[in-house]
Amino acid sequence: MTNLQKEIMNIKKDKNIKILAHNYQTYDIQQIADYVGDSFYLSKISQELDCDTVVFCGVNFMAETTKMLSPDKKVILANEEAYCPMARMISPDDIIKFREENPDYTIVSYVNSTTETKAYVDVCVTSSTALKIMNQIENKNILFVPDENLGNYIAKKIPNKNIKLWEGYCNVHDRVTTEEVYDLREKHPNALLLVHPECREEIVNLADFAGSTSEIIKQAKESSNDEIIIGTEVGVLDYLEATVPNKKFYLLSKHLVCPNMKKTKLEDVYKAVSCEGGREVVIEEELMNKAIKSINEMIRLAE
Ligand code: 13P
Ligand code: SF4
Repeated sequence: MTNLQKEIMNIKKDKNIKILAHNYQTYDIQQIADYVGDSFYLSKISQELDCDTVVFCGVNFMAETTKMLSPDKKVILANEEAYCPMARMISPDDIIKFREENPDYTIVSYVNSTTETKAYVDVCVTSSTALKIMNQIENKNILFVPDENLGNYIAKKIPNKNIKLWEGYCNVHDRVTTEEVYDLREKHPNALLLVHPECREEIVNLADFAGSTSEIIKQAKESSNDEIIIGTEVGVLDYLEATVPNKKFYLLSKHLVCPNMKKTKLEDVYKAVSCEGGREVVIEEELMNKAIKSINEMIRLAE
């Protein structure tokens, strides 16, 4: 561990702080975090934290979800400018308008959405829970927002449902091309291709497995294959290279770097645990009371 990492470890122990980090954070941050995982794991953990303060290393909506699930704790987003552009591709007004025009639809939102949007939808899902949750929705008519690629991936698995899709996308995963898949497949013909369902349909169709970031990590570790192509953000590859030295990992595309996830640096984490930086998450009570319902429904249906 570096001196800075050691200092962060000491401060968080002294101040009873827990650090939560998404799988896309750089490995030096993952090393000093108490909990690292995908969006669903981090939501679950947020309910069970035994600490005074949480420093969240990831993007805005994730820290807000933690705050909603741990309202009595101080939650600090380590880099105040880290946000998910896809979360802003749908607004509460869009939802209100759709509902007025389509009162017979259940509205499902990917957790990559703003707290304001979450306040108007019926249930949230993450990439690892979407299929299980949407399978349990009795209504045949579903609107899925905002990620068209994830929505389409789930819709193909449950053809009995009438699923309308919003045209949002992740500007990192959506950039992966079939040419990049063919190119890496040619270079590494025996490698396993693991992708995130935020990739386009044609990429997912060429993959050996599609799943959340933690599911990709699990597959990569458990597979008997010792060559693996990672079709999600580079943080997953960095973690695997550091922890599974006997396997070879290749990044599917040079575009698989999320600029927002990479805004958080170890120095930001140091400042956040020292109460000298980051941004405390504050959500107005009425908004929180509305938005938490779709998060609680997600946790209930995913169980
Ligand atoms: P996971 O829930 O799979 O971690 O995905 C979050 C995300 O932002 C993927 O781009
Ligand atoms: Fe948002 Fe895409 Fe970054 Fe995930 S990888 S946080 S979906 S922009």
